[in-house]
Order: sequence, then structure tokens, then C-alpha cells
Amino acid sequence: MAFKPGVHTPTIFIVLGATGDLMARKVLPALFNLFETGRLPARFQVVGFSRRELTTAAFQKYVEDILLTHKDIRPKRTARKKFIKAIQYVQGNFDGERDYERLAKKLAEIDKQWGICSSKLFHLAVPPHLYETILKQLARSGLTKGCGPDGGWMKVIVEKPFGKNFETAEKLDTLLGTLFREGQIYRIDHYLGKAMIHNILAFRFSNKLFEEGWDRDSIEQIRIRLLENLGVKDRGAFYDGIGALRDVGQNHMLQMLALTTMDPPQEFSAAGIRRKRYELLSTLRPFTRAAIRAQTSRGQYQGYSKIKGVAAGSKTETFFKINLELDAPRWRGVPITLTSGKSMGRNEKDITIVFKHPTPCLCPARSPHTFRNEVVFEIEPEESIRIRFWAKKPGLTMELEEREFYLPYHEKRVSRVEEYAKLLYDCIAGDQTLFVSTGEVQAMWRFIDPIVRAWQKNLVPLAYYKSGQPPKL
Ligand code: BG6
Repeated sequence: MAFKPGVHTPTIFIVLGATGDLMARKVLPALFNLFETGRLPARFQVVGFSRRELTTAAFQKYVEDILLTHKDIRPKRTARKKFIKAIQYVQGNFDGERDYERLAKKLAEIDKQWGICSSKLFHLAVPPHLYETILKQLARSGLTKGCGPDGGWMKVIVEKPFGKNFETAEKLDTLLGTLFREGQIYRIDHYLGKAMIHNILAFRFSNKLFEEGWDRDSIEQIRIRLLENLGVKDRGAFYDGIGALRDVGQNHMLQMLALTTMDPPQEFSAAGIRRKRYELLSTLRPFTRAAIRAQTSRGQYQGYSKIKGVAAGSKTETFFKINLELDAPRWRGVPITLTSGKSMGRNEKDITIVFKHPTPCLCPARSPHTFRNEVVFEIEPEESIRIRFWAKKPGLTMELEEREFYLPYHEKRVSRVEEYAKLLYDCIAGDQTLFVSTGEVQAMWRFIDPIVRAWQKNLVPLAYYKSGQPPKL
């Protein structure tokens, strides 16, 4: 990660929901990772805001315990102690007007101490039903206005799920839009923080060899898979109201599709890339009822309905498969499949591009019938790129065999902590490339909504499968 100009600006990182699960699992380890690798501004403070009655000293202890017990980090003592000194706490209720005033006072104190109007980054690390209350309170207390001549450098980070459907996403965006400009809103989709996902654009647009034939004339089909070994575990209450399609399809998988199929941006800037992702996602046409019946399928693993928090007899899908096409001149007619499921018995997350082979085939007599090439962007179990091609078998006869160029992306896999750290780093630096724009969110919901509604009406039967044995749909 090269330094970007914005990362030198004195910054206060305010976490709303500072004693919650997201803070402990992702935000703190990622901030610590940036700190210990020298990638935070020299003047940097974290201010936690939460309901729990804690003093700053008690909160610092709480943070230290999290750092010491988190499975993916090994904090050294000196770094840990230094990091903890940069952390403060304000106790408050999310709907408590006075509490936000105290928060504002705390931020003003830090600015006064630094003698500067610092950047403020508000991270909404809370369940989505609290967003509205928090945003309104932030606005009421003047916290979203900033202190500099042009309103300061304020930003807000919002986690997925971004709405439950088009309507709720739009409502949330309207509210955000009254308080912040689009350039200040950072909507996180953690898949965009994955190293292999960034690599798709680099691979495509820097290698003419592939980009030349990256279209309907040369590509026969595209398959995107997000198969997970784990089941829903202890997330029943959250998951049951959402289902697999909204949990990973509406966001991660459509973003994977956008990066794989978008047109080259005019320039490699955040605005250019986001624009092209958006344009591509806008070529997804909402399905008719007939298309939903014919092109989508869904399943649920046996035992799911017994999980704590899941409604008895729940019809929520834990598996889905969707066959779609893009309504774009470059892609019209190319079948695209999205497949995802929980409890699949393995982790397989990848994008496979299958290239056409001319027919009739000019192939030697003793050879397989098809000579398709494939490019695979593999995210799990390995992070790699695989290119499948055909070559002559060593020996005296002209016989072909399939071989593979295998490019492991790293010597050591980038950890989840670093993936999330990359997103926070870009947010601090003011680079929105890896964050989802309002247009993208809307385009994704426009496509997903009719399918969710049809499934809720049971238009497509739910297939039950045994854990570890994906349904053959
Ligand atoms: C999350 C979903 O957004 O993505 C989870 O809520 C899912 O259900 C996860 O398991 C998958 O992400 P990753 O990084 O483990 O592939």
C-alpha cells in the first residue's frame, strides 16, 4: 500500500457501537494492524461511543483484552500500549441528545489540543435498525457539519446490509444524502477489500492478451461461486430475515460480476471505476415471474430450522442458483451463473470464465471433444489465478491433454484483518474506489428484489439438502 495524501491528515475515528461485535471482530484488529505498520496519521484518535457504562480507562482495558485474544493478531507490547493511549470513550445512548453533545465536546477538546480542525470519520458499527436514530442525532448535535471553513472533512462508514430491499436502501440513502455528500459516504462491501478481487481489474486491463477476447464473441459462459463450508451457526436471528441471496448475492457476488464484466474505465480513478461498475450493474434486467421460475432455484440445508433464532418451518434459502444474462452489447447471450450456499462441505469461492472453442474443431483424432480454455480467479481455498489450456502430450503421437498455468497470488494469504484494514485505510485516505456507490446499490436491489419477493411467495420450490451435499439444481 503506497501512502496516499489523505492519510497524513489528523483524524478522529469515531465508532458508534464501540462495545459491539463488529468492533471486536473487525474494526479494532484492523485499526491496530494499520497502527503497527505505520499506516495511520501521526495524529490519530479513536473515540468509542456506546451504551455500556465504562470509563476511558476501562474501555482501554477492554480494547487491550480484545487485541490480546483475537485469533488473527499477535500484538507486541510496546505497540499495543501506544495504540491504547490513542483511545477514548464516551458513554451514551444512541437516542440520547445530551450524550451526542458530550461526544461533540470530546471531539472539540481533541481538536483544541491538536490546534486544528481534524477529519472526523463516523463508523456506524451497529445493527442497521439503529442507523436512522444515530444519523438524526449526529445531525441534530451539529456533528455532521464539521468545524473547518468548508465544513471540515467528515465521513461516514456504513456496513452491509445496506437496506433490506430497494425501498429501504433508498430511504437510508435519502437520509444519508441530507447529511453528507456522496463523496463522504463509504458503503462497505468487504469483498472489495479482498486482494484477489482487486486483482481482477489489474489482470483484465493490463493484459491485452485476455482483454481483447473478453466479450460475447470469445466467451462461452461465466460461473461465479461462493460456496461455504460453514452453516449459519449462531447468526440464526439475523440470517433468517435475510437469506443467502440478500446476504451474499445482492452484494458480494454482484460486485464480483461487475468487476469481471465491466468496461474499462477511461481512467483508473475511483470515479471512473465506480461509474463502470454502476453501468454494468444497470444492465441487469429484473426477471419476469416466468424467468424466476425457469432461471432461479433455492435450497435449505436440513437442520437449519432448528438453529436458535430461526422460525419453525422457515422457508429462508441457505442455497441459491441464478442463471442470468446481461443486457449489454458486449455480453448479450453469454450465460452467467451465480451459485452460493452455506453448509456445502467445502469452501469454494471463485469466478470461472470459459472461452469458446471454434467448431468444427481442428483437433487431432485422439483427443477430447472440447478444447475450451478457462481463466479462474480463485478466492478460496487458495488465492490464485488458474489458466487452463491444451497442449500436446509428451510422446510420439499427436495427443492433447489439459494443462494449467497456476499463479498463486501470495506466498502467504492476506488475512481477513488486512482485508478490512485496506478498506479503513482507503477510507481514511479518501479513496472511494473500493466502496459501493448509491447507484450500484440501487441497481443491485432492482435486480434482486423481484426474485426475493417471488421466493417469499413460494413461486420456486425450496429443495432440502444434507449438510455437505449441495443440491443438484
Ligand atoms: C458476509 C456474510 O457478508 O460474507 C456471511 O454475511 C458470509 O454470511 C461472508 O459468510 C463471506 O465472506 P468471506 O470473506 O468469508 O468469504
